[in-house]
Amino acid sequence: MNNLAAVILAAGKGTRMKSNIVKVMHPLGGLPMVSWPVNTVREAGASRIVLVTGHQSEKVQDFFEGQTDVRFAVQEEQLGTGHAVACALPALLGFSGMVLILCGDVPLISTATLEAMVRQHRSRHAVITVLTADFAQPNGYGRIVKDGDGFIKRIVEEKDATDAERRITEINSGIYCVESDFLTVAIPNLKNDNAQREYYLTDIIKEAANLGLLCQAFPVADPAEVMGINDRAQLAEAGQLLRGRINKALMLAGTTLIDPLTTYIDQGVRIGRDTTIHPNVHISGDTEIGNNCLIEPSAVIKGCKIGNGVIIKTGSVMMDAVIHDDVAIGPMAHLRPGTELKEHVKIGNFVETKKIVMGEGSKASHLTYLGDAAIGTNVNIGCGTITCNYDGVKKHRTVIGDDVFVGSDVQFVAPVTIGRNSLIAAGTTVTRDVPPDSLAIARAPQVNKEGWKLKKK
Ligand code: UD1
Ligand code: CA
Repeated sequence: MNNLAAVILAAGKGTRMKSNIVKVMHPLGGLPMVSWPVNTVREAGASRIVLVTGHQSEKVQDFFEGQTDVRFAVQEEQLGTGHAVACALPALLGFSGMVLILCGDVPLISTATLEAMVRQHRSRHAVITVLTADFAQPNGYGRIVKDGDGFIKRIVEEKDATDAERRITEINSGIYCVESDFLTVAIPNLKNDNAQREYYLTDIIKEAANLGLLCQAFPVADPAEVMGINDRAQLAEAGQLLRGRINKALMLAGTTLIDPLTTYIDQGVRIGRDTTIHPNVHISGDTEIGNNCLIEPSAVIKGCKIGNGVIIKTGSVMMDAVIHDDVAIGPMAHLRPGTELKEHVKIGNFVETKKIVMGEGSKASHLTYLGDAAIGTNVNIGCGTITCNYDGVKKHRTVIGDDVFVGSDVQFVAPVTIGRNSLIAAGTTVTRDVPPDSLAIARAPQVNKEGWKLKKK
């Protein structure tokens, strides 16, 4: 679709959120609310996107840094939706075509709906198309007033409506498609002679109708798409609807979700075929999971690259980790940023890792802390092993060669290097490098005092 621009209104504060964060920056499905309409208009083909910001302008603009198709218009004072669009006009200079206008707090609108609206707008040569919905409880929304031929004459806000108008159930979603030539002429003519003393964007319809220009309604097929978010109860409701969409798309693409209602997967997460995800799993950030994986209940996965055939057992928490094929993790493992586990690694219960690479087939099966370490292939890390990587000032590295066997309860006081094929005896505190093929043992010899207990009596 060529000749399509978009304006997204997001200057309001969102008082009913009762929050220090501006409404449109509240997270929804892993993204700030306002990025949903931005992504949707982009997918619908808008080549130029103007975001009208006001409250916490800088925070909103910071988020979109690097998205070069997004331009900003600042509305210092929120004098109404018409005034907000007036602020956006300079950013539309030089553009001629259709302008989609959306609200930053109506995030569930789908690309398919916008595309269908634009198609109908174009085929009927309309000047304004308003996305409408039929709500049994239309309270709070502007009502669509039509003429005898079914065209829109005007939109009346609830606060300005007569009793008869309030009974109209067709509402204004706040989403429009408008010809830019008309918009640039109509916006400067808006007046604020209404109950709220605001410049209503909706009054451009009256202007167009008076000029005999075509204003049509495009009824949305699924009213849930035009739900506006004003408070946190609606935020939660919208979050649930979004999760429903994300989960359904994953299931249709071949991922098994045992209970989609309690599976929390953010937008943008990629999951392969025949991977099974149990309830109460949270997957977020730039995460990719391969085929044939098993993710057990209550795993929390953020920003991880996970290969094929990986098992992540109950209660494991992992962030910014790279996991190769056929690795088993958990239950209750904690993989922190910078962890890379090569093929067939096994990480057992109560193991914490950070900034480590662990080679193919290596194991740390129980109760261990591994940080700032390079661990070779086929290494066994015994129960209770600790890399003492921090001396109170700096972090130091532990390097463990291939085929090393580390007994239980070993401490590596870093920096320290263990040569390949060595054995570290249980209970050893390693403070010096160990050459290859060696036994390192450092523990006080045992003394048995026979009869000691009897004498004590
Ligand atoms: C608006 C519509 C109403 C429609 C409803 C749908 C008008 C006059 N009314 O009402 O017909 O049913 O949306 O949700 O347009 N905003 C700004 N600057 C402003 C005012 C608003 O950027 O000066 C932004 C808000 O941040 C918000 C959006 O515009 O994202 C809608 O504003 P809001 O005040 O919520 O409009 P409603 O009263 O809901
Ligand atoms: Ca609103």
